[in-house]
Amino acid sequence: MFTGDSEDDVTGDSEDGGISPFDTSVARQARIYDYLLGGKDNFAADREAAEQAVAAFPGLAAWARHNRAFLARAVRYLVSEAAIRQFLDIGTGLPTADNTHEVAQRIAPESRVVYVDNDPVVLVHARALLTSSPEGATAYVQADLRDPETILRAAADTLDFTRPVALMLLAILHVVPDADDPWAIVSRIMAALPSGSYLVISHPASDVRAVEIAEMTRRFNQRLGNVVSAGRTRDEVARFFAGLDLVEPGIVPTPQWRPDSGAEPVTEPAYAAMGRKP
Ligand SMILES: C[S@@+](CC[C@H](N)C(=O)[O-])C[C@H]1O[C@@H](n2cnc3c(N)ncnc32)[C@H](O)[C@@H]1O
Repeated sequence: MFTGDSEDDVTGDSEDGGISPFDTSVARQARIYDYLLGGKDNFAADREAAEQAVAAFPGLAAWARHNRAFLARAVRYLVSEAAIRQFLDIGTGLPTADNTHEVAQRIAPESRVVYVDNDPVVLVHARALLTSSPEGATAYVQADLRDPETILRAAADTLDFTRPVALMLLAILHVVPDADDPWAIVSRIMAALPSGSYLVISHPASDVRAVEIAEMTRRFNQRLGNVVSAGRTRDEVARFFAGLDLVEPGIVPTPQWRPDSGAEPVTEPAYAAMGRKP
């Protein structure tokens, strides 16, 4: 684990199906997302994969921006209205504007955030995630969502699991196939968190604009090599929240989750939701 403190320690699995993170000829999910957000940490293969997907679904870049905006609204809600001060953000992506700790610590500097990603590309850039306020803490763990025990063990160095934690799973669960039972993985992590903890999910839909999204997904999967992506239906997304109390407005298109006042009422093929553990 990398921490925002003086000690640098690396834990977790760095195996990635034999694809080197430094092989810039292979598209990577984190770098494609960076490109869609207008970032600079991407290469020709990532841009080409992104453009192929955009040709199938022209709303893809807007989806990425809406997803990031949802992250900021969700974190602001959690800190301001739910008094959450601890975050476990799995599938962090490359550092960009308004990372989870920046949004949280702007309101509550004592907030503590553990970032987790399985892509060594993200590890290379992780220092930019470790710019914690002195009152709070940030840490980076390289681990796979499908290995919740490793994540929980490493996160316990920074987070106090006797106090509520927000588990953030934004734009990641679609790359965990049904065969790996992502519902059981989410439920395992939530079981380790106390009452008053939150689950936050954003997830591409498979039941909205289904033809375009299926074609976009096919194109992604042709190029990504290291992950297979698939949207899910609203009901499948709802299953992640079994046993939790959904925060209003429930499971809605990402831009419609507690939009900032004056925001256009946009719809798109992605769901966002937040649930509280009773
Ligand atoms: C589309 S980005 C989302 C970034 C951020 N959560 C957001 O919503 O802005 C998805 C990230 O999930 C990571 N990821 C994909 N599969 C993963 C897994 N099995 N375990 C951990 N991270 C994973 C990718 O490397 C990528 O950085």
